[in-house]
Amino acid sequence: MTLSGRRKELYHASGHQMALREGNGLCTISLAPDSNMFTWQLKAKHVHTIDGKRRVPSHEVPTNVQGRFQLCLPSRAWEITSLSESYLDCIHIAIPDQVCGYLASSQTLNYEKMSRAVVPTATIGDPVELYKLVTKDIPKASSGNVVVRLTLRPVNPTDSLVIQWGVWAGHDLDKLVVGSEGTGVVYELGEGVTNFKKGQRVIPLIFGRYYPEGYGLWRDYVEIPAKDCVAVPDDIPDEFAAQFFINPWALYQMLKLLNIPKGEYLIQGAAASVLGRQVITLAKHWGIKTINIVRRDSHIQELKDIGADYVLNSETEDIPAKVDEITGGKKAYGALDPVLGDMTKILFASVRNGGQVLAYGALSGNDVKLDVKDLMRGVDLKFFLVNDLGHDLAKREETSKEIFELMRQKVLEPLSGKKFPLEEFQEAMIEGNKPGRGGKVFLESYDH
Ligand SMILES: NC(=O)c1ccc[n+]([C@@H]2O[C@H](COP(=O)([O-])OP(=O)(O)OC[C@H]3O[C@@H](n4cnc5c(N)ncnc54)[C@H](OP(=O)(O)O)[C@@H]3O)[C@@H](O)[C@H]2O)c1
Repeated sequence: MTLSGRRKELYHASGHQMALREGNGLCTISLAPDSNMFTWQLKAKHVHTIDGKRRVPSHEVPTNVQGRFQLCLPSRAWEITSLSESYLDCIHIAIPDQVCGYLASSQTLNYEKMSRAVVPTATIGDPVELYKLVTKDIPKASSGNVVVRLTLRPVNPTDSLVIQWGVWAGHDLDKLVVGSEGTGVVYELGEGVTNFKKGQRVIPLIFGRYYPEGYGLWRDYVEIPAKDCVAVPDDIPDEFAAQFFINPWALYQMLKLLNIPKGEYLIQGAAASVLGRQVITLAKHWGIKTINIVRRDSHIQELKDIGADYVLNSETEDIPAKVDEITGGKKAYGALDPVLGDMTKILFASVRNGGQVLAYGALSGNDVKLDVKDLMRGVDLKFFLVNDLGHDLAKREETSKEIFELMRQKVLEPLSGKKFPLEEFQEAMIEGNKPGRGGKVFLESYDH
């Protein structure tokens, strides 16, 4: 038996028709309950198996399965199908004839539109090993809620940290979905929702549920209260909307907390990060000078070009001595530390008496180093976690407007990097961890 995919329909040789919409897809084939284990082959130019790790062109995948099994047809295949006639046969699933005997009935061969999701298979360990792609039903929008079809999500360091740190230990694995932020379009409106319309671009603000519940956005469809959706203005590109929350809100809140007077210095580690670059531009906009620490010379000019006052390389320079030189011994007013380890010690030594170091990441691991002499100078350390202000909707709306305005003025301009289809999340995570990478890596889904 052969199943061949064409633009809008998938059919098999014996004539059972199956409706197939373009876009992300799942071909579900249910076998009679008494069917034996068998081997099937899958041939396609772009096919991703539900348990597989990668898209394989023209590949044959022998797998032992029993009962219901699913083939996950990736969005890209259908996207290409709709672009190029030469790809019309790109989905080609060959199932050995003897297997056909086990198919229960024509009813059991069908195509369903479903929601793919990246989920953890354990709550602590290596994310690249433990995350896998599964399919779930598309949620229905209940009263007051909307269903959003996600189109673009960044790969943030926190998407790995949740599992590296075991943040979701003790949670029901079936309920966890990875993905700290993203953007999409309204797919369905629940009863009583009047402030959005279908197809409108929105940002689901899920962060208040991400850490505690594992309610993430590396999936195709998500249901969310309409009050937690932010409408995306027409002049904000998807790449900015997808990175609207985690970094911009964090640095905006941190700079407000440090309350550095105009003309004084902020010092920050990992300054070439996507967040660090926006710290430079927002600080400049607010009249704060910056001393920026990087670990490779190639970042120095880049950061100066966006407005950094000083860029120092921690691999080759004595940072506290340089800071004393720059500030005439006054030191920096406050510091931002996403690195920890030796970086915390460097930043402590570079901050004024009674100053504050705000730690907000753990890029070098969880341990912190300090010189007690700096503690004796009253230098203080706090850890910061971004807050989506869900408890104060008026303040949330005001902050959203302000962040969009800063994006519009190019004060906050999140740097964008490579895009991968959602099903290639492992490759995307590996790319996202590459040293010296630059722009944010994205996971995208295609239109249906
Ligand atoms: N607490 C919060 O609420 C909050 C919110 C947002 C972000 N964050 C944290 O902010 C940090 C930056 O986020 P992002 O999205 O901007 O990340 P990103 O774009 O992936 O940036 C990574 C940057 O960190 C540098 N880096 C990586 N490991 C390092 C190390 N061991 N020592 C020194 N530098 C290192 C890299 O330098 P190279 O270019 O030299 O490789 C790169 O410039 C992350 O730790 C993230 O978890 C925290």
